[in-house]
Amino acid sequence: MAAKSRVPVSRMIRMPQPATKVSLTGIKPTGEPHLGNLIGAIRPALKLAEEYDSIYFIADYHALTSERDPAAFRHYTRAVAAAWMAAGLDPDRTIFYRQSDVPEIFELTWIMSCVTGKGLMNRAHAYKAARDRNVEAGEEPDFGINMGLYNYPVLMAVDILMMESDVVPVGRDQLQHVEYAADIAGSFNHLYGSSYRFTIPEAIIPEADTAHTVPGIDGRKMSKSYDNTLPLFLPENQLKKLVRRIPTDSTPVEEPKDPDSSTVFQILEHFATPEVIADTRKRLEAGGVGWGELKNQLFEVLNAELAPLRERYTELMEPGSDLDKYLAEGAAKARERAGRVLRSVRGAIGIDG
Ligand code: TRP
Repeated sequence: MAAKSRVPVSRMIRMPQPATKVSLTGIKPTGEPHLGNLIGAIRPALKLAEEYDSIYFIADYHALTSERDPAAFRHYTRAVAAAWMAAGLDPDRTIFYRQSDVPEIFELTWIMSCVTGKGLMNRAHAYKAARDRNVEAGEEPDFGINMGLYNYPVLMAVDILMMESDVVPVGRDQLQHVEYAADIAGSFNHLYGSSYRFTIPEAIIPEADTAHTVPGIDGRKMSKSYDNTLPLFLPENQLKKLVRRIPTDSTPVEEPKDPDSSTVFQILEHFATPEVIADTRKRLEAGGVGWGELKNQLFEVLNAELAPLRERYTELMEPGSDLDKYLAEGAAKARERAGRVLRSVRGAIGIDG
């Protein structure tokens, strides 16, 4: 594969190469893919795929803890997979699959849940937040909380450990889950490490999730939960309308403007070239450029960038497109890796054959 072909031939002959490290992430299909996903998750993960052996998957069974509409579940699963491929994921380089196509994950989930403390799950942020909301609303603490939500961190740990992942690119909100995966791996290794040891994973938080968050059309962080996203694959005219809706202040056209307090400018910063960004900043600070003009510019930049992706996405979303073939091939590769790990684990715990 590409990473290996960069190794000079002389070195390949002289000594065995250390195995390339594995980058893995899961994508929960809970909504239409948006600009924040592209900048904050998809692009950083695709960048890592240049250096690491990459394993990326659609975490559909994680979405099931909250998704109750089968048609929506099916649609988002395909839409998110198609978005990653349209954005440039190369299925020859990256193992790309649907979690639910790899039954080994669910067998390992039981095994790992037997070495995981219940107290650890009680302290998980997402579960604790759901309980706090209930208590605040005067309900029973566990009202409406299903076991899927409670066990979520174990399933996620298994996603990570099953593929012997070294690094896990995730948003900040997922940091605890990756730490739990490391903890759970540690418990297993402590008990059975003389026969099989899991790799201890580490989270990588992309910059767009720390310093340079992508703002949504209301200026807060772009997120499905705020309903402020710019969906990636809107038809051109709808994208234009949405960009026009981004609120701006009432500074008159002639007056100088502060680029850094403008949501429109901040979104532009994630897409335009450094030259265009610097030039736009200058023009805004000089005065004479209205917000309407800046919005037109943002739309043009976004549209130029997204048009080819939109076209590829639309093809992949057709029934019977190559998307299903790619996912099936990815699942076969994932199952082979998972099968190897599961056989070792079964042997280690005392289940032979
Ligand atoms: N919990 C993650 C999220 O909500 C999705 C996910 C599931 C994941 N399994 C994973 C991420 C394994 C990284 C690794 O975004």
